[in-house]
Amino acid sequence: MYCVRNITEDLYWVGANDHRTHLFENIHPISLGVSYNAYLLLDKSTVLFDTVDWGACRQLLENIEYVLNGRDLDYLVINHMEPDHGASIEEILLRYPKVKIISTEKSFMFMRQFGFSVDKQELIEVKEGDVQSFGKHKVTFVAAPMVHWPEAMVTLDLTNGALFSADAFGSFIALDGKLFADEVNFDRDWIDEARRYYTNIVGKYGPHVQFLLGKAAAVLDKIKFICPLHGPVWRSDFAYLLDKYQHWSTYEPEEKGVLIVYASMYGNTEGAAQKLASRLCETGMTNVRVCDVSTTHVSELISLTFKYSHLVLASVTYNLGIYPVMLDFLEHMKALHVQNRTIAIMENGSWAVKSGDLIQQFVDNSLKNMLVLNERVTMASALHADKETELNAMAQAIVDSLTETAK
Ligand code: FEO
Repeated sequence: MYCVRNITEDLYWVGANDHRTHLFENIHPISLGVSYNAYLLLDKSTVLFDTVDWGACRQLLENIEYVLNGRDLDYLVINHMEPDHGASIEEILLRYPKVKIISTEKSFMFMRQFGFSVDKQELIEVKEGDVQSFGKHKVTFVAAPMVHWPEAMVTLDLTNGALFSADAFGSFIALDGKLFADEVNFDRDWIDEARRYYTNIVGKYGPHVQFLLGKAAAVLDKIKFICPLHGPVWRSDFAYLLDKYQHWSTYEPEEKGVLIVYASMYGNTEGAAQKLASRLCETGMTNVRVCDVSTTHVSELISLTFKYSHLVLASVTYNLGIYPVMLDFLEHMKALHVQNRTIAIMENGSWAVKSGDLIQQFVDNSLKNMLVLNERVTMASALHADKETELNAMAQAIVDSLTETAK
């Protein structure tokens, strides 16, 4: 059964929701689902903007058939060729063999790489600033390399102000009937998943996102709708969304607060982490989040690391190294270019306490622009009363640092 919604009189959301996929990109859990957004414009010509993941293809086809209502599909614009959006291209070509495909040179290369038979179609290769008219609607194409793949572009409809923004401004969570961001309580119910989506999918490419934001700022008055490939469509409150993207893409924290991530085998490092959290809260710094590295998915940890200004890494020593799951978290931070944070280190070990020095080395050698506080807590097996002074000193150093930092 078709399931579509109007964005404007002649522009439709024809995408699909997915509650079946458990792991996005086969790595990130999506317990609340995800949407794959595609958009169909009915003008003198008919234009489909992007397709959907293979698993959602049937829904897309039903939606397109319903909206076209007997018309042919004239154009297919591909802003992003990653298979969660491009996988259904061949099915579209089978049903609408005369469709002309508009995309970038690299995108056509990827289509061939994935084995799509696109060369029998009319291919229109576009680049930055090119304009295409579909009748009443005129669109322009803007290169968006590495947001999040190198071939990506975004398309601005100069007639109705719809920005087809590819992966930019997207979010996890299935739409489930809602379409617009103002139909949900975004700041309460969506922001954490939007951050988890951005930081894990696009987080590495902050400078490229900054470049795109600069281009968007120059035409902001022309943008009336932001239509991403995942999550809700924005038609108001752009400042809220842009402010989040500004923070995330410059690796600046959203909030002054402390994320304590602990790696604990038998509960002793966990106990120390909890004690530190209590000390911080006693001082009045209650914006504290404590996570077990072993049971909190690393995509969630990365998202929280982008959110908070301060990070405490509390790790047991394991095989004379950093606890493997903690090391995995550190490697993800490195891969996603997390930077500009203040870090404190707690270490534990029963016969050779190594984790603190190794974490310090990792931060120094592999992460950028991190400040590691001098106050370290070192435990032999467990935190005892004689270490309370060290722990209090760390809590005070964190509070002092929070007070000093402007944000
Ligand atoms: Fe949702 Fe980079 O694809």
